[in-house]
Amino acid sequence: EKGGYDYFMLKEIAEQPKAVADTLLGRIDAAGSLTLDELRISPGALREVDKVVVIACGTAFHAGMIAKYAIEHWTRIPCEVELASEFRYRDPILDPQTLVIAISQSGETMDTLMALRHAREQGSRVLAICNTNGSTIPRESDAVLYTHAGPEVAVASTKAFLTQLVACYLVALYLGQVRGTKWGDEIRAVIRDLAQISGQVERVLETMEPVRELARSLAHKNTVLFLGRHVGYPVALEGALKLKELAYMHAEGFAAGELKHGPIALIEEDLPVVVVVPSPRGRSVLHDKIVSNIQEIRARGARTIVIAEEGDEAVVPYADHLVRIPVTPTLLQPLVATVPLQVFACELATARGNEVDQPRNLAKSVTVE
Ligand code: M6R
Repeated sequence: EKGGYDYFMLKEIAEQPKAVADTLLGRIDAAGSLTLDELRISPGALREVDKVVVIACGTAFHAGMIAKYAIEHWTRIPCEVELASEFRYRDPILDPQTLVIAISQSGETMDTLMALRHAREQGSRVLAICNTNGSTIPRESDAVLYTHAGPEVAVASTKAFLTQLVACYLVALYLGQVRGTKWGDEIRAVIRDLAQISGQVERVLETMEPVRELARSLAHKNTVLFLGRHVGYPVALEGALKLKELAYMHAEGFAAGELKHGPIALIEEDLPVVVVVPSPRGRSVLHDKIVSNIQEIRARGARTIVIAEEGDEAVVPYADHLVRIPVTPTLLQPLVATVPLQVFACELATARGNEVDQPRNLAKSVTVE
């Protein structure tokens, strides 16, 4: 059943290139445009959307945070993202022009379900992004975009996350395509890049041995910090969540720009800090700022584990450990940057003798509020 792997999680990490490709399958036409007829929300209705609200829990929430960057950039529609458990109880402002996107691997998460019911009662349209055919969340939504990750057995979400990202990009790009924005050329270029991305995920997987070795060498540590900026920030949160769940270690993700507002006080000699570095092309200001952050924490003794694009030489002098990821458009980087963090957490859990597929106290789907 585990296809020769020791754990379902390892199998599911390895399945990611296929999961990503399957989620794109049939959704990009020969001319390089998106065809999402399955959305069942008419292009007219999509043109009227004036606000997007994303609701989800856990890893799916991190996918939602990344969706916000993509949606606001490519469509210029304001987008909020909120933990489903918070959203439901704060009397959110919703109306028929609000498109609510509920992201859930299982389709059975009670907090997300209650949040979507609340949104529909206010007259908003709900689009589910879900991995489980016929589950409750898509059944109760107005429309559904299925991720095609296949069954995910390990409690820690991996391939479902990558496919949720793909689905979020598809929705953002489709909204941009339907509404016609000044980003038309960029949208077409990114659709072409998306079509190639599964091969890049594959390449990351082929280079993970040093990450596993590093994880084993850190098995005795108590704390690991994760820093990121822009879409690298939710990736940092996801890396920290994986480590908590699997390795039972204290792990925290921060927006790198927040360092000097508090977290830098945590830095001490030999503390492992994972930094997700944005591409030096495009938003080079962000890149340069994060390089100074790496310098700052290293000067205070941190052991820097730097995840950076191939060809990014500026980080080399400050990286105690350097993990290379392929060059991608800025917004797509989470698809490749998350993979080393999954491998890192899985290997640390194994080295600490933890139950990888079934961490203590956790259930695969949380069907109580
Ligand atoms: O099935 P869902 O996507 O709605 O589940 C949401 C979270 O419970 C889930 O992502 C959880 O955080 C995972 N165990 C993370 O690895």
